[in-house]
Amino acid sequence: MTQKTAIVTGAARGIGLATTKQFLAEGRRVAMIDRDAEALMAEAGQLQNVLPVVCDVSQPEQVSAMIDEVATKFGRIDALVNNAGVADFGPIEETSFERWRTVMATNLDGVFLCSQAAVPHLKEVQGAIVNIASISGLRASTLRVAYGTSKAGVIQLTQQQAAELGEYGIRANCVAPGPVRTKLAMAVHSPEIIAAYHDAIPLNRYGSEDEIASVIVFLCSDKASYVTGQTIASDGGFQSTGVGLPALRV
Ligand SMILES: NC(=O)c1ccc[n+]([C@@H]2O[C@H](COP(=O)([O-])OP(=O)(O)OC[C@H]3O[C@@H](n4cnc5c(N)ncnc54)[C@H](O)[C@@H]3O)[C@@H](O)[C@H]2O)c1
Repeated sequence: MTQKTAIVTGAARGIGLATTKQFLAEGRRVAMIDRDAEALMAEAGQLQNVLPVVCDVSQPEQVSAMIDEVATKFGRIDALVNNAGVADFGPIEETSFERWRTVMATNLDGVFLCSQAAVPHLKEVQGAIVNIASISGLRASTLRVAYGTSKAGVIQLTQQQAAELGEYGIRANCVAPGPVRTKLAMAVHSPEIIAAYHDAIPLNRYGSEDEIASVIVFLCSDKASYVTGQTIASDGGFQSTGVGLPALRV
């Protein structure tokens, strides 16, 4: 019961899978959560010290059962990484209420539900929450009325959690990734969007899953013991750039 643990949602692939592997490398046991049972079991089957749990984070009953199972089997929950997310880009007039709700259900409801259910266990060990937002939650753009708004909500939700849970020693922080070539991003990034991102990002490239995961793992660690309520953009400098006029480039 002394070995630290972490829960990672959306752990079957992409940033969540990379985060799982980095937690394992530093000696934690990891509960891998995903609604894609086939992909989850395939990845978990290749790893040691993991507990795969099939769960849709937007469903309150499933979340409650998942947290109970992890707490019972692990005996403690030291970190919760709310990483599961979906993307859906479209103009405001074409974003049906159903599409809006689908994005909000996973990206925002899921973070609220998993965090709320984990709090009693995080209190016991003064644990940490890391929520995954996006640069789309920091800066508005076209086509992201649902996705960008859900991610801005995640940033505010993180601050609410930090403000309220600090007295229990629970830290809550947020990571806002820039573009990473995962299945989620490649479904909505056309070749034109990829080229435009390269142009707008000072480091001139997409990030890797591991470059996002290392920030997440740091924020969960004791090295970040006095950091709470923060959003760290791991984005190659995208967020820090101001007016991106080509005429102002050197
Ligand atoms: N890839 C990027 O460019 C990028 C940029 C900014 C933010 N993000 C955010 O990073 C997070 C991870 O994204 P990724 O790029 O690794 O995506 P991904 O699609 O590769 O992985 C997401 C995982 O989440 C799971 N998932 C989705 N909805 C779920 C639900 N309701 N319940 C349980 N599991 C669910 C999927 O099955 C999948 O395994 C997301 O929150 C995403 O919004 C990604």
